[in-house]
Amino acid sequence: MRINKFMATCGVASRRKCDELIASGHVKVNANVCTKLGLQIDPEVDLVTVDDRPIRLTEKYVYYMLNKPCNVVTTVSDPNGRPTVMQYVPSGKYRIFPVGRLDYNTSGLLLFTNDGDVAQKLIHPSFEFGKTYIAEVKGMLDNNTLNHLRNGVDIGGFVTSPAVVEVLDTQQNRTRVKIVIHEGKNRQVRRMFEAVGSCVLRLQRVAIGKIKLGDLPVGKCRELTKDEVAYIKSA
Ligand code: URA
Repeated sequence: MRINKFMATCGVASRRKCDELIASGHVKVNANVCTKLGLQIDPEVDLVTVDDRPIRLTEKYVYYMLNKPCNVVTTVSDPNGRPTVMQYVPSGKYRIFPVGRLDYNTSGLLLFTNDGDVAQKLIHPSFEFGKTYIAEVKGMLDNNTLNHLRNGVDIGGFVTSPAVVEVLDTQQNRTRVKIVIHEGKNRQVRRMFEAVGSCVLRLQRVAIGKIKLGDLPVGKCRELTKDEVAYIKSA
């Protein structure tokens, strides 16, 4: 890439202004003053400074959602060679990573980005991104049990904060429950049901705040819309 184009892309100034900076000796490439207009540089390798301050390409931030299948690990790489969520998202241009995690046998909404600030907001309980799950659990749940889950249960050294818990339907000794939680402790939903003597048979995350999985097929990924990104950033 021509050095003036590189500098302009990094937001230093217009290309013409960058040429002036180069000609007047403000710019170094790999610690050597460069006055040659039109010099080709490799942004991945060469260190360009303006008045001794390094400049870098600002990375574009991208945001995706995946409908994670079961039997897939939420990690960038698995030392045990199991399938990972990275196999379902675009590879190459941007180094995206999963935001938080879903268990191996949990399916549903998983976000990916290369934007560390946004990832931090989504994970941290102090931001109001409730995580909505549909849990299919063993047995019937009476009102006392439901209220216990709503008010907070001890999942082993940690009492969960208030949750929204709503029974969707019950069939053949199984209950489908919608549950919205605000923390993200390890296996939290499963441990909450275990704490009240039940057991999660299937678990799917369907929303993070107002971002909904909708009808995205299992194993498919899509970019977040402008409105979805704006919503996350505005929190
Ligand atoms: N709670 C769980 O128990 N598992 C998940 O994957 C997510 C929340």
